[in-house]
Amino acid sequence: MDKFYITTAIDYVNGAPHIGHAYEKILTDIIARHFSQRTDGMFFLTGTDEHGIKIQKTAAAKGITPKELCDENAQKFKDAWKALDINYNKFIRTTDDYHEKAVQKIFKKLVEKGDIYKHSYEGLYCTGCECFLNPKDLTEDGLCPDHMKKPEVVKEENYFFKLTKYKDAIIKHIKENPDFIVPSFRANEVLNQLEDIQDISVSRAKSNVQWGIDVLDDPEQSIYVWIDALSNYITALGYDTEENSDEFKKYWPADVQVIGKDILKFHSIYWPAFLLALDLPLPKHILAHGWITIDETKMSKSLGNVISPTSVLETFELKEPDAFRYYMATSAPCGRDGNYSDEDFKEKVNAHLANSMGNLLNRTLSMLVKYFDGVVQPKNFALVDGANELLKKALGTVKIVENHFNHFEVAEAAQEIIGIVDMTNKFVTDNAPWTLAKEGKMDECAQVLAAVLEVMCIVSALIYPYCPNIAKSMAKQLSFDFSVKLDDLTADNIKEGKLISKEDITPVFLRVDSELADKSSKK
Ligand code: MSP
Repeated sequence: MDKFYITTAIDYVNGAPHIGHAYEKILTDIIARHFSQRTDGMFFLTGTDEHGIKIQKTAAAKGITPKELCDENAQKFKDAWKALDINYNKFIRTTDDYHEKAVQKIFKKLVEKGDIYKHSYEGLYCTGCECFLNPKDLTEDGLCPDHMKKPEVVKEENYFFKLTKYKDAIIKHIKENPDFIVPSFRANEVLNQLEDIQDISVSRAKSNVQWGIDVLDDPEQSIYVWIDALSNYITALGYDTEENSDEFKKYWPADVQVIGKDILKFHSIYWPAFLLALDLPLPKHILAHGWITIDETKMSKSLGNVISPTSVLETFELKEPDAFRYYMATSAPCGRDGNYSDEDFKEKVNAHLANSMGNLLNRTLSMLVKYFDGVVQPKNFALVDGANELLKKALGTVKIVENHFNHFEVAEAAQEIIGIVDMTNKFVTDNAPWTLAKEGKMDECAQVLAAVLEVMCIVSALIYPYCPNIAKSMAKQLSFDFSVKLDDLTADNIKEGKLISKEDITPVFLRVDSELADKSSKK
């Protein structure tokens, strides 16, 4: 692998970020950081989706211009991602000048190709989805099933895209590439939707939607917000239909595009069709994650249960986002829905990060100082039952974790990492180095500690994508070279000799204060 291009959905800026948006960015960041440990050419794109009727209406209700609303909220997304250590390479805003120009050219190219035509149309438009709905998909009361709102009847002359022309090619692609849609159980859903697709409206009359990109040769029409939004994945790299940048040539097609299950149709039907029409290759994988609920309830403004990602950090007085990242990333198996609750957050991160992982390193280093003045003795793991096996298991875990990541199974991979930590805790309990020391069996005692420290180097590398700050602190105390690629990890990461002094041992993660959590749940 000499490059890896990963993208997130770009968020609507009609409000501030919530933990659902954060979940996706965290998952993506973890995948990006993991593959950075396996390849050098990482490009991670995220951004904001700023045009459309939804933004136009929200701005009007607030008495500000759409651009003012976008500027205000785009900054909130950037601030949130900074607080969560989302290490993106580029943040695109669909109001960026270069993007708007490229979208106009993309639209023009589709017209020239004969894939876009004008047509009078009457349909039901849902502002929440920013799309026309099929009457058969509405609830019994005639509401949009996702937004529980009555769609607007729209009668306009619009441009239409010949989606039906690409139907067979997309069906073929999905069938021939069973890992195109991840998890694969969602592919059938998409194949069913493809059965009755029709050509789609790809513009709105300027008289109704002013906040959009003008069609180049017909300024009475705004380009449909989903053409605008989906194009971000290529315009951000410098694609503009004519002179495509080196970055575009290097990074497209994307290795994985991470999105929520609610927008899978747009990414697995519309987006491939636009790409085929532009004669561009399709992304290798579309990862559709599940939804995050709060205390098992759907987040919604009307219920007043929308949680901002930074408020979780504030509630628990967390200076670093690692625990929140870990919790979110492990909240659901790949593609399934997850849940956030203060109580569960506290229990899980205390158990996994403080008790199992943090304590293990802390007490092992403390014993090294107490019994050996912080000096790692020459290694001879054969002296201790199970030490070589433990290290073999840890190195085997690296391969298992990599394999999970090959399928974007972020939570499943974390389970393996905590599994090896638990196994190592058991190894310590079984071999009781404190008893060995008391009995004067210092050689055996030294080997138990050294084996654990070797495993902890491997654990620090594996946990890094989830908890970058904790991992760095672990690696520092282990004097472990953190830049090593995952495949170069060995059972011999620590040099013999002085490793650490008492004053340099610090807990890598402090337990989340239970009083703080109790306070917040009473709010
Ligand atoms: N702007 C479009 C995406 C365009 S991508 C070319 C959009 N924006 S959104 O703000 O509504 O959602 C952005 C992402 O956040 C989507 O992938 C969506 O699935 C995800 N989530 C929004 N709420 C969510 C949860 N409650 N839980 C998990 N993810 C959720 O759709």
